[in-house]
Parts: sequence; C-alpha cells; structure tokens
Amino acid sequence: MNAMLNCMEETWGNPSSLYGLGQRAREALEEARERIAACIGASPKEITFTSGGSEADNQAIRSAAALGARKGKRHIISTAFEHHAVLHTLKKLEGEGFEVELLPVGTLGTVTARQAAEAIREDTALVTIMYANNEIGSVLPIPEIGAVCRERGVLFHTDAVQAAGHLPIDVKAQNIDLLSLSAHKFHGPKGVGVLYARQGIPLSSLIEGGAQERGKRAGTENVPAIVGMAAALEEACAHMDENAAKVSALRDRLIAGLSQIPYATLNGDPVNRLPGNVNFCFEGVEGESLLLLLDDRGICASSGSACTSGSLDPSHVLLAIGRPHEAAHGSLRLSLCGENTEADVEAILKAVPEIVDYLRGMSPLWKDKVSGKREFVL
Ligand SMILES: Cc1ncc(COP(=O)(O)O)c(C=O)c1O
Repeated sequence: MNAMLNCMEETWGNPSSLYGLGQRAREALEEARERIAACIGASPKEITFTSGGSEADNQAIRSAAALGARKGKRHIISTAFEHHAVLHTLKKLEGEGFEVELLPVGTLGTVTARQAAEAIREDTALVTIMYANNEIGSVLPIPEIGAVCRERGVLFHTDAVQAAGHLPIDVKAQNIDLLSLSAHKFHGPKGVGVLYARQGIPLSSLIEGGAQERGKRAGTENVPAIVGMAAALEEACAHMDENAAKVSALRDRLIAGLSQIPYATLNGDPVNRLPGNVNFCFEGVEGESLLLLLDDRGICASSGSACTSGSLDPSHVLLAIGRPHEAAHGSLRLSLCGENTEADVEAILKAVPEIVDYLRGMSPLWKDKVSGKREFVL
C-alpha cells in the first residue's frame, strides 16, 4: 500500500509520455519489471504486465496454440482440474480445431511427469499444467514436467497463480517457457498480474491498440498496481521460508482438528500441499450454509473457488479427484497466511464442528444416512 500510495502521489504520469513526469512513471514501471523478474529467475524483457492471472493464462495458451498451428501442431495437454481461465480457453480452442487432452489427476489431485511424457505426441503444441491447485492446494511436480517438455521440444506453460510468493519459482532451472501469476495471491492489489514468456517465444496479443508492453499487450499500464505487485512479491519471496514454516504449522493444526469431525475428509495431497490450504468435505452439509454461518462468526471461508462461488455446480476440482457430486457440494476451503494466528485457528476449530453439527441436525438427508435409509458417500 505504501509503494502504491507513493506512486500515485509522486509518479502518476503516463509511462508512455515523453515529459519528465511520464518518464519517472516509466522508470517506476521498468524497476518493477526488474524486481519481479528477479523473483522468478527471469530477465526483465521476458515479463509482460497483464490484468491478472486469467489474462496471462489466456494469452499464454493462445500464443502457444498459434505457434503450434503454424507448424501443423494442434494437440494440447493439460489436466482436468485447472482453473477455468485455462479450461475455458482450451474449450474455445477445441472449437477452433485443436485437440485437448486432459490428464486425470487421481484421488490426491496431482499428475506425474511420466503421465505428461506418455501423452506428448509429435503434434503436441503445448503442455499447460498448474503449479498448485487453487481449491485443494496440491503442489504438482513442475520441475520434472518442465524437464520432460524441454527434452521433447514441447512448450510448457504453468499457471503459477497459487504458487508465486509461496513456493520457490525459478523459470530457468525449472524449464518453464510460459508462466502466469496474479498479484492478489501474495497480498498485492487485485486486477494486475504477469505473463512470463521465455525470450524468443512470440506472444499473440489479446488486446489490440497501442504499442505498450513492446506491442504484446496494448493499453496504458496500471503503474501503481504494478509497483504494488513488485513490492508485495519481493516481500513474499524474502520471507517465503519463515512464512511457509509458520503457515504450514497452522494448516496442520487445522487439518488435525477438522479431521476429528465424523464423516469429514481432507481433499488434496496431505504432503505436497500449499502451506496455507485446507479443504474438507463434510458429509450431509451444504457448503453454502456452512460459509454463511462461518461468516456470521467473522470467519471468511470459501466452498470451491471464489470464481465459481456464485454457481450451484459442484466444484470441477472435487469431481476430478473422484468426490461424489453430493460430497462435492459440502466442501469448505480455508486459506491461511502469515498474518493468521493460533487464536484464529482455535476459533475455527471451535466454530466448524458446532456449525456442522447444527446443519446436520436440520438435514433430512443426514437423518436418512444416520437411520440407514441412505448410504454415506465419504
Ligand atoms: C490457479 C488460478 N489461476 C488463475 C486465476 C485467475 O486469476 P485472476 O483472478 O487474477 O484473473 C486464479 C484466481 O483465483 C487461480 O487461483
């Protein structure tokens, strides 16, 4: 916030203007580019600013698809539990003549490098696999998948929106060709993100217009948000180890406590997991009711992802790891950060069992299960 306020007060010019005020904004913009590049092992020229993770995902995938199509390659590999920014883009590409293969993610929610290797074909244009899943927190073997793709000469994109600032990223060492990140996942502002594209990979523009971002993304850059993103990412990377240690201890305490609730199941990989992610299914409980009652007690939680919270469909991520429809409706996702405390965790551990009990007490479905008229699904 300080970095953004300072930028709005001191360097509020248009970075494409030639007058001094504009040039100072340009310097702030380029300094932010350098600082962000340094956090992920990239060079500043490989960084394009976007409006967030969705735009970066769209542009990365469309650029790789266009490059592939020029060489007659129209096969794209991804996973069944990507964010909709990826899945919906792939769906559109299918309508444009691409063949999309979604790898199954198993019950823990991950894929192996071997699965990727076995799926790669002569006509594969792109492998796009997320770094960590936004709903269930599983962390995927990205360096291994990157190595396979590099060896086979296939472009590799990773949606690292959940990983940036939380897990170490080194695009060169991890053989990543294209990477998306979004500032609001590491305490930066909303509506700003980055597309990293390895030098030499031409990006297709999604937005036509001026020559900003070296012609790769038209539109005057949101300098204060970009400067805020750089400050937030640097801070997150500087404190990554200590935050991860603190947050994963809180996470594990929460997981152990919530596991005591009868007919509750943890979703996602218990070991390879984002430090701050907790996701459970509770049998006989509607996720939405649980969230509203938690909100009453000052606890901000989600069911599925924030992006789909307006829809009544069960989470595609939970279905992809094999949870039945009914259980996928009763999920709870809690995201922790370095500012959470043990007292927060204790408050959640008091509230959730009480609310689950209360909701089950009102549920005809639960009564049928307890009386044996219906089966438990978890
Ligand atoms: C894994 C993942 N990808 C992409 C996005 C989209 O990012 P944005 O909301 O910045 O467009 C999100 C947002 O939650 C996400 O979690």
